[in-house]
Amino acid sequence: MPAPVLEKARDEMLSLNNIGMSVMEISHRSKHFEPILRGAIQGIRDLLNVSENYKILFLQGGASLQFSMIPLNFLGKNETADYIVTGAWGVKAVKEAKRCGNATAILSTADEGFKSVPAQDVLNFSKNARYVHYTSNETIEGVEFKYDLDGKGVPVICDASSNILSKPIDVEKYALIYAGAQKNIGPSGITLVIIRDDFAAQVPDGQHSMLDYRAFAANDSMLNTPNTWGIYIVNLVCEWLKEKGGVEEMSKINEQKAKILYDAIDSSDGLYSGHAEKEARSLMNVTFRLPSEEFEKQFASEATARGLDGLQGHRSVGGIRASIYNAFPREGVEALVEFMKDFAQKNG
Ligand SMILES: Cc1ncc(COP(=O)(O)O)c(C=O)c1O
Repeated sequence: MPAPVLEKARDEMLSLNNIGMSVMEISHRSKHFEPILRGAIQGIRDLLNVSENYKILFLQGGASLQFSMIPLNFLGKNETADYIVTGAWGVKAVKEAKRCGNATAILSTADEGFKSVPAQDVLNFSKNARYVHYTSNETIEGVEFKYDLDGKGVPVICDASSNILSKPIDVEKYALIYAGAQKNIGPSGITLVIIRDDFAAQVPDGQHSMLDYRAFAANDSMLNTPNTWGIYIVNLVCEWLKEKGGVEEMSKINEQKAKILYDAIDSSDGLYSGHAEKEARSLMNVTFRLPSEEFEKQFASEATARGLDGLQGHRSVGGIRASIYNAFPREGVEALVEFMKDFAQKNG
């Protein structure tokens, strides 16, 4: 989280705009909450240049619920959906979709250890596919698409949980974009969904209301009590991002931060080796290995002692992972590189 956002939230914690109540104490239908919800929606709209034929929704259940909600809304029993699987989250997404219909991984990089992303021109979609789903940044492996996928007529759905708001995207290419908020948008407990109106209109009748995009769209995300605190923070994060120059500026900063780290990996004479292929390297999650697991453990624990915490890779893959989301400062990256150099000097 950006420090200025936390500071503002702290200052307003007991009394929002001097009304004598916390944002957690007011009704979600009150005149005090209304501008916060509008602000958060408009903030996302402005930052990602989302046109009026898309709805911006704030749902709950995390990005993981979207793995189910998408096929429940758009994949009938005898219908086909295409999944491009470039990492662990894509695996989970296709697994849930298979419960509803004929969901297939038309391309998976599992066999080579999830190190790359496919080029657009090798992708061929199934005839009559209801949609194609991909994960724009695989958080665990640190592989990222550098382009907005073209569905060639098939509606494109994207899990953008870990790189949304890190750079400009061409929203018009998508039928639906979703993202758990807890990386670049706000606190956990909020899921951003950007859905095109004509796609939402395809939700079949008879859907359970709380799993129905159309119902959420028609009710401004307020089918039930939304996560008001989360939406309040999203609004503040959007304001912060706008002050910083928006996603265009953020993208430049993210490129620079990631380059500092990847350069340190590449110039380490083999002590550090990047997991992802160069063209697929994530700007948000920099993943690399050391020559042995013992070395990696030593690296992570010595880093923690230097105040650089959270570097152990995801429990499913090991290795080292530096997550450098929007709010992570360049100085933090520089401190890590300094530590990497010291560690290499002692152990290289
Ligand atoms: C790309 C991606 N998809 C889905 C998820 C699952 O998100 P949640 O924990 O909000 O369900 C994550 C979580 O880190 C993620 O990084």
